[in-house]
Amino acid sequence: MFLTDEEKRILNGEEGAGKQKAMEMIYALGLTFNAEKLLPIKRAHVALSGQEGDTYWCELLVKGGATCAVPPTTNPYWDTAYLTKYFDVTKEEMELADRTGDAYRKIGAKLSYHCAPGVYSNVPFYGEHVAFSESSATPYVNGALGARSNRESSISALAAAVVGKTPYYGYHIDENRYGEFLIEVDADLKECYDWGILGHCVGKIAGSRIPVLKFKSEVHPGQEDFLYFGAEGATSGALAMYHIVGVTPEAPTIEKAFGGRKVPKAEAVITNKDLKAREDLLTPSTGEINLVMLGCPHYTYTQLLEVERLFAGRHVNNSTAFWILAARDAVNLAEQSHLRQRLELLGVRMVADTCIDEPCWKSFEGHLGVTDSPKCAYYRERRGQPFAIRRLSECVEASIKGRLD
Ligand code: F3S
Repeated sequence: MFLTDEEKRILNGEEGAGKQKAMEMIYALGLTFNAEKLLPIKRAHVALSGQEGDTYWCELLVKGGATCAVPPTTNPYWDTAYLTKYFDVTKEEMELADRTGDAYRKIGAKLSYHCAPGVYSNVPFYGEHVAFSESSATPYVNGALGARSNRESSISALAAAVVGKTPYYGYHIDENRYGEFLIEVDADLKECYDWGILGHCVGKIAGSRIPVLKFKSEVHPGQEDFLYFGAEGATSGALAMYHIVGVTPEAPTIEKAFGGRKVPKAEAVITNKDLKAREDLLTPSTGEINLVMLGCPHYTYTQLLEVERLFAGRHVNNSTAFWILAARDAVNLAEQSHLRQRLELLGVRMVADTCIDEPCWKSFEGHLGVTDSPKCAYYRERRGQPFAIRRLSECVEASIKGRLD
């Protein structure tokens, strides 16, 4: 792999041990994937998780004197000041949260604590080369925006932010962005939840291949639809890039989506029946619930408004907690416009900077929760809370009754 003299100096440790470690990571990644060179970037997003491994890596770079050449935005961990008013955490959990914040502050990250950066906290332009980790963010920036990112880990994205460069391979190269197989969709997608279920079907078929979706009727997906589609495609498979004919920027025609190669026969046709079957398969659970959890990925202001509309003045059951995780900007807007206060009167709480996969939620474990996100259910179930997956209107009705029928 070609390295400039400056890159060689960094690799030799002449700009400090921290930057050297980051370059070693980038260099090893480049060698593994046969990259011909490194590519300068102006944006990165790090899937900070507040878990030991990620925090250790950031601390190691800081200890070696590294700071970010490109300040990356970060994923959420949890709002320690706000959530400790409601939930107990151990001293160790609190210490890890504090260490994580300190390390990322010292390395010079932009602590956005938001997991849908392409939607507002860090939006790349068409064709821009970036290093984004977070499984739901990568398909969004590649597929919906036409920017170029590999499926980075938090480790490699932070290394790229420190060096200001990423190896030139994978989705950075034109030939690797073309569609690899065709899926036809003959289904009605009414809301982002339906796009999430479609993404779950597509991810299962695609694995890590690039699907081209051709819809039977015209579709006009919005930000939340793209976000849910990619998040679930990356949960059931390893979706990081996709095309929707006539919709996404690199697929104005089916021929362009396949890069001028022969358009293959459809490998699958997804219908309403398939979406229903996938939904039924995900979690059929019913019964008493203790939690409705929304915002994986983080809710937008539009989604917060929709929650209020669906409640229509009714109140969350006393036996149930209702939490929405949202982007800090969305929470601030909700506060300014008194949407937050109105929702709180109905028993709905919202929190920024926070992920569903954090220790602060452990008091709910062992009982049934409800979410509109298969990704949320997947992660929470690993921590010991069973989750039913339902569309938003059904989540709201369940919270009012305190049970899911
Ligand atoms: Fe965001 Fe955490 Fe879900 S980072 S997408 S809330 S798993």
